[in-house]
Amino acid sequence: MLTHLLLLLFLSFFSICFTSQAAGPYAMRLSCGARRNVRTQPTNTLWYKDFAYTGGVPANATRPSFISPPLSTLRFFPLSEGPENCYIFKRVPSGRYVVRIFFGMVDDPNFDSEPLFDVSVEGTLVDSLSAGWSSEDNERVFTEAIVFLTDGKASICFHSTGHGDPAILSIEILQVDNKAYFFGPQFGRGSILKTVKRISCAQGKPRFGEDYGSDPWSGDRFWNGLPTFGQSSDKAISVESNIHKVSVAPNFYPQALYQSALVSTDIQPELTYTLDVEPNSNYSVWLHFAEIDPSISKAGQRVFDVLINGDVAFKAVDVVSMSGGVDTALVLNTTVAVDGRTLTISLHPINGSHAIINAIEVFQLIAAEAQTSAIEVGALLALKKALQLPHRLGWNGDPCVPQQHPWTGVDCQFDSAKNRWVIDGLGLDNQGLRGFLPRDISKLSHLQTINLSGNSIHGSIPPTTGTITSLEILDLSYNFLNGSIPETMGQLKALRILNLNGNKLSGRVPAELGGRLLHRASFNFTDNAGLCGIPGLPTCGPHLSAGAKVGIVFAACLGLLFIVGCSMIWWKRRQNILRAQRVAAREAPYAKKRTHFSRDVQMTIHQSARTASENGPILLS
Ligand SMILES: *[C@@H]1O[C@H](CO)[C@@H](O)[C@H](O)[C@H]1NC(C)=O
Ligand SMILES: *[C@@H]1O[C@H](CO)[C@@H](O)[C@H](O)[C@H]1NC(C)=O
Ligand SMILES: *[C@@H]1O[C@H](CO)[C@@H](O)[C@H](O)[C@H]1NC(C)=O
Ligand SMILES: *[C@@H]1O[C@H](CO)[C@@H](O)[C@H](O)[C@H]1NC(C)=O
Ligand SMILES: *[C@@H]1O[C@H](CO)[C@@H](O)[C@H](O)[C@H]1NC(C)=O
Ligand SMILES: *[C@@H]1O[C@H](CO)[C@@H](O)[C@H](O)[C@H]1NC(C)=O
Ligand SMILES: *[C@@H]1O[C@H](CO)[C@@H](O)[C@H](O)[C@H]1NC(C)=O
Repeated sequence: MLTHLLLLLFLSFFSICFTSQAAGPYAMRLSCGARRNVRTQPTNTLWYKDFAYTGGVPANATRPSFISPPLSTLRFFPLSEGPENCYIFKRVPSGRYVVRIFFGMVDDPNFDSEPLFDVSVEGTLVDSLSAGWSSEDNERVFTEAIVFLTDGKASICFHSTGHGDPAILSIEILQVDNKAYFFGPQFGRGSILKTVKRISCAQGKPRFGEDYGSDPWSGDRFWNGLPTFGQSSDKAISVESNIHKVSVAPNFYPQALYQSALVSTDIQPELTYTLDVEPNSNYSVWLHFAEIDPSISKAGQRVFDVLINGDVAFKAVDVVSMSGGVDTALVLNTTVAVDGRTLTISLHPINGSHAIINAIEVFQLIAAEAQTSAIEVGALLALKKALQLPHRLGWNGDPCVPQQHPWTGVDCQFDSAKNRWVIDGLGLDNQGLRGFLPRDISKLSHLQTINLSGNSIHGSIPPTTGTITSLEILDLSYNFLNGSIPETMGQLKALRILNLNGNKLSGRVPAELGGRLLHRASFNFTDNAGLCGIPGLPTCGPHLSAGAKVGIVFAACLGLLFIVGCSMIWWKRRQNILRAQRVAAREAPYAKKRTHFSRDVQMTIHQSARTASENGPILLS
């Protein structure tokens, strides 16, 4: 009985754990600069402290806007920490995500102006802050992007543009449906949706999805209120009745969104909404409708065209007929190319009716950047460590993307065949580098140019350097490199410029390098500890064939044998002479007087006598 109960308890506990884990979307919220986890009201939202995610400096924050979450700290990134700083989230399940970043202002009178900086998600630039973002009532206090995260991590970087230190209030990574905002054939990993605008019509108050009690899979979207289109002719209507077909996959819109609407009137039958956008970009526009006007009950009573920048996007929209009834949600989406700086949505009624609209969403379509070859990123990180790269150079995030912010000293090239970036140049001359050159430098196999001149690099040139076959220019001058030039360097067939001057190199320069000089290459080996072997340098002694070397070794061995033999003979001879002298000394009275211990003298006499008789008289002569 008890065991049954326990089993039941265990099973139910297990199923609770299992279902809650399987059903819930991944949600990670960071309160930047916080010393401990924070909960914010009224929704009791949990924000984790951002310890160990990145560098930077924690500080107290002033929240620039009514939209900002009620958090009291931020993290800022002074330029001394490098031009790019990143938060790296690990173990993020593969899927589609809303990534949202709120900016803050350091609560300190010494930080006077608002910082301007760039934001990237997974290497793609998603925002460039422009002046005025921190002014009151501004909606631009956050960046939101809808992205696919498929490599188990999320990397969010802030790039300095020379206008103050990037300061971040919070970061949210909220999983949504894999088909969320499916906008057409180009939907996929290659495209990112950047939220430009999300408004709820006839609402005075801005609200987050959580305030609406919306589905956890909806990404806690922010809906700003739009009380009127501004023509003072539209009419706000709202209902309490239930709306059908709301909160359905993939976008889970909250019911409240459809319970209010703006309707045009006889004075101005058209509704027009204009927003400023970045020119020469594609935009995904999502329009929400529900016929909540009690005066409309049948299809055909309200019909209107939707025009975007003057072009018909949806012809003859009849909400009742398209949604299937009154009080029923209808979501339409379209993608438009915009050349200019504005995007205008206008609803033109036909057949004498009026237009209605409940909500609008506008996203900028951004092509996701390709990443840099993982092997080459690993090699650069090995280099960063081995060369003790100074903090001010940064080297965080992806080396090549966003293309506007490559790592300092790294030149990139796009490999279209493999849809990835590779490194073709390394220019870190006069950067105060210490440490040594790692073997892994050879994994940067597309390098054409390396300039590490004028640093304090020690140790030897790794022999693996000889495998970077595309290398044309190698400048390692004015360092403290020692040892010899690796023989493998002779394999660098494309090498045109080789500057090794001003180091402590010694030994023979590989003969192939010397041969290259005939082909108008420019090599400089001066000012080293002692290089030899090619024209212009001292000779290293006669150049010998393999056979000659064997001969020399053989001769040397013979010579050695001869010397050893001679020394042995000489030693024996000397011993015998000494013995003979001692034998003679026994007879001499002056020698006796010089000896203090007669016993020792005795022993010597005995030994000498014996050896002398053994060796025979010839050697004594
Ligand atoms: C931040 O604010 C708290 C109190 O709210 C204060 O104790 C602390 O010293 C402040 N920190 C800084 C760096 O100003
Ligand atoms: C968006 O519109 C396209 C057609 O333009 C349609 O295929 C797609 O299903 C729509 N997306 C959603 C989520 O309704
Ligand atoms: C907009 O989309 C079209 C077709 O989908 C594409 O050819 C064009 O390059 C896109 N424009 C921009 C600026 O991305
Ligand atoms: C508009 O009204 C005319 C006649 O009044 C009708 O023929 C036409 O089908 C209507 N158009 C729509 C889109 O309902
Ligand atoms: C490498 O950098 C140094 C110092 O900036 C410069 O003088 C030199 O010309 C560069 N080497 C090459 C091969 O361009
Ligand atoms: C080169 O210098 C390093 C110290 O910087 C030393 O440990 C090493 O033995 C030297 N190698 C040669 C071949 O002189
Ligand atoms: C080679 O380097 C030395 C300094 O180490 C310099 O004086 C000389 O001009 C260089 N030669 C060439 C050809 O650049």
